Amino acid sequence: MGLPTLPQDLTFENQHILVTGSNTGIGLELARVFLRRKAKVFYLVVRSIERGNAAIAQLRQDAIIAKENPNAEIKLYQCDQGSFESVFTFIQKLKNEVAGLNTVVLNAGVSNFSFVTTVEGWESNFHVNYFGTVLLALELLPLLKEGQKNGIKSHLLFTSSDMHNKAKINVAQLLADDVNIIEYFKTEKNHSWDPSQPYSISKLLLTMFTEELALHEKDVIITSGCPGLVRTELDRGLPLWLKGPVLLMRILIGREILKSAETLIQSAITDQTGTYWSDGVIHPHAAVITTRDGKRLQTKLYEQTLQKCKELDSGIQLK
Ligand SMILES: NC(=O)c1ccc[n+]([C@@H]2O[C@H](COP(=O)([O-])OP(=O)(O)OC[C@H]3O[C@@H](n4cnc5c(N)ncnc54)[C@H](OP(=O)(O)O)[C@@H]3O)[C@@H](O)[C@H]2O)c1
Repeated sequence: MGLPTLPQDLTFENQHILVTGSNTGIGLELARVFLRRKAKVFYLVVRSIERGNAAIAQLRQDAIIAKENPNAEIKLYQCDQGSFESVFTFIQKLKNEVAGLNTVVLNAGVSNFSFVTTVEGWESNFHVNYFGTVLLALELLPLLKEGQKNGIKSHLLFTSSDMHNKAKINVAQLLADDVNIIEYFKTEKNHSWDPSQPYSISKLLLTMFTEELALHEKDVIITSGCPGLVRTELDRGLPLWLKGPVLLMRILIGREILKSAETLIQSAITDQTGTYWSDGVIHPHAAVITTRDGKRLQTKLYEQTLQKCKELDSGIQLK
């Protein structure tokens, strides 16, 4: 069965849209789709200003954007999700300059197969894909609420991955009273010997948090989705011996990048909050999340993540 396509007349006219990791790969393609479909202001949030400017040059050369949306504003912001200081500097600047947002796609991510830590000392997949992403989400929620117009809710989409189904976590261990999940993932010995696991686990945690956040925050439509297998720069963090076979797989069975972006956008235009999307349709959550202990873990993860984020910024209002 083919992938569902976006309605031809779908437009983001008058919308303020923010996408992280939008200098390359799926994020840049999302920028193209949103701008071709008339987004009024596009916030390109990137780790490197130089790469961000190169992306803007590409978007400005896009003939469809030039024809359909010649007056679009593209604004560039710097944010490294692996650094609290960078996240808070970005958020402060954004809040000073922006009154409201209609759609946010938290898309930036890494796939590191070696144990690399961020400046704050967390394993990089965990910090960038989960903790840094969630911190950004909590900081951006007030702007998304401000962005609601005429009763039309704003959307918050997390780019997850079907790889979250492959995550192997020890639910009983994580549920133990003396375990703080955020601290647990700081310790190298708590990471699996399997180098593909930190990425899968980071996306599982992200998907769990999304579902729980949607139960607590009803004013914004909150979803997570997988763009499908696609050739991007994501494999930068893979060991050399694995890059060849993975590239071959992406060439043989990967999808076109436009299809990936459009597939994801299906989950940014739905009114069904708390859902997980794959191939452009709603999919069940990973089996582990649906068990009784999985649900308890989801609640614990939400509470401990929220607490940690509030320790970093006491202004976060969510309960
Ligand atoms: N490609 C796939 O097959 C696939 C499948 C499922 C899910 N995904 C997900 O799709 C999302 C986009 O990935 P992609 O495939 O487009 O990969 P990509 O081409 O490598 O793009 C990743 C983006 O994330 C940014 N990023 C990395 N580390 C960051 C940090 N510490 N702070 C802020 N931004 C950071 C990168 O910035 P720089 O360019 O500066 O490094 C880049 O803009 C990711 O969340 C990924 O997990 C991808």
